[in-house]
Amino acid sequence: MCGIVAYVGRKQAAPILLRGLSALEYRGYDSAGIAVMGERLSLVKRVGRVSSLAGAEQLTGTCGVGHTRWATHGAPTEENAHPHVFGKVAVVHNGIIENADVLKAECTARGEKFSSETDSEVIAHLLNFYFKGDLLAALKETCKRLVGSYAIAAMGEEREIVLARRASPLLVGRGEDGAYAASDLSALSACQTVYALGEGHFARMTEDAIRIFDDGGKIALKPLKKEEVEGLPAKGGYAHFMKKELMEIPASIANSLENYRSFAQNQAFCRVLCQTEYLTFLGCGTAYHSGLCAKYAVERLARVRAACHLSSEYRYLNPIVKRGELVVAISQSGETADTLAAAELAKAKGAILLAVTNVGYSTLSRIADFCLVTGAGREVAVAATKSFSAQLAVLFSFAADLARLRGMGERDLGNLPVLAERTLAASEGTKAWTGAFVHAKNVFFLGRGADVATAMEGSLKLKEIAYLPSEGYAAGELKHGPLALVEQGTPVVAVMTEKALAEKTKNAVHETAARGANVFVVSAFPPEDGLPTVEIPEADEAFSPILAAIPLQMLAYYVSLARGYDPDLPRNLAKSVTVE
Ligand code: G6P
Repeated sequence: MCGIVAYVGRKQAAPILLRGLSALEYRGYDSAGIAVMGERLSLVKRVGRVSSLAGAEQLTGTCGVGHTRWATHGAPTEENAHPHVFGKVAVVHNGIIENADVLKAECTARGEKFSSETDSEVIAHLLNFYFKGDLLAALKETCKRLVGSYAIAAMGEEREIVLARRASPLLVGRGEDGAYAASDLSALSACQTVYALGEGHFARMTEDAIRIFDDGGKIALKPLKKEEVEGLPAKGGYAHFMKKELMEIPASIANSLENYRSFAQNQAFCRVLCQTEYLTFLGCGTAYHSGLCAKYAVERLARVRAACHLSSEYRYLNPIVKRGELVVAISQSGETADTLAAAELAKAKGAILLAVTNVGYSTLSRIADFCLVTGAGREVAVAATKSFSAQLAVLFSFAADLARLRGMGERDLGNLPVLAERTLAASEGTKAWTGAFVHAKNVFFLGRGADVATAMEGSLKLKEIAYLPSEGYAAGELKHGPLALVEQGTPVVAVMTEKALAEKTKNAVHETAARGANVFVVSAFPPEDGLPTVEIPEADEAFSPILAAIPLQMLAYYVSLARGYDPDLPRNLAKSVTVE
């Protein structure tokens, strides 16, 4: 959701900014731009990906800001691309300024002209208005006027960058040659020390110093731990990050199981687990599907009642929260605006908040009472794959622990990484299925029980990266409407991992086949009826989504390629949705 980079140091800024933007491109990629301060300010903005800025590396100057955009207010045009320059300042912004219209009217009344339709441009106008020689002071004044969310990097005529953060991530880092800032770590590989700005923090960066402030004045932040900063991803010989990340699923599961084991030593958390009678899972997109899988596992294994809500709905439901209820907010990035709002609401209503996130220094981790960090490592492809497996690994461990503490038996998850390895190999078989999907009008994924959640995740993947209309549906519900959409050749993928329910799902499969559907199967049982099948290894049925999702992710990957798309950077989407 938009990426910000900024640099001030001894080197030429433009090549550094462009490298940073390429690393951040997965956050948004409908337009990009950089502004560099040398003898004068130079600005280049283009519609499209960061590569469209080719040539901008020639700009001279050792201080600059850059941005890759995911449009919220205003279409992806050159005018709407950042940086926005007004008077003496250049600004890049991530977030949404909710009172932009009012502020714009105020600026217009002063006779100022706007050159874009964005909410962000108003920040440049206010900064210029409040600037009386101290850019940080002007930024503080400006922020007092802003309603909404923001990460801002701004520069004036001096060789300094000023920054502000509210509800949108922003990191600053010190490298050998100068100071850097970015929306996430991917663009800070040259930094030895990195700080994550907190809510309401400001910073001033010059070549030699980074100073961080809150309302009360200058503060000393702890730098991120070494292991958090390390491990910047490369494609490692794979054509796409998505394929690389699929192949990393076994390691992601193994690391996450290990993380849960250490986390579960926390006595305070064990006490909460022992007392938990009701659970709520919250998430968006893939994280929501993890929550659904967790709900099934918790109810099945521990007989504890659980609900799972979309964060974007929950935050407006006026939810009923029992004091001491455990609410589990799931978010790979830990920065999804709706999940943060939903989690904060639950906490305000008296819930105990457990964060399940892949980023230990994220906003979600800071607001939570307990933070369970998944071990997926950095995930770059927009479509979540290994982070889903990681979430399931910790959530299933959590469900197993709940059951153990209630004297309902022990479960072993230790074999899941090996089983995932075997599932990955079997999933290559989906490549041969792509012919049936390439020109499909719509696709169905069917299942029962937890397989419905897996089916929904498979459908989401296909929509996200192959742009195919598809539905993940409860097999028993098909005949209550959607069956009308099944026609000759419609691809139907049946997910069957639970013996007791498989026969029932097969009924739905027959109903679709009888109407001409092209049926494919992901199953834990030997193939029947000669249908094309990816057979996943038999595992504890309560944990099967962690395996069954893999062939569906792989299928989406191959269909995306067969349709000529880039699976890493799907249109209109962004990795981390930091606005509502
Ligand atoms: C975006 C991403 C999805 C992700 C969702 C939730 O829509 O494209 O892949 O599942 O956000 O993200 P989170 O970081 O909260 O897990």
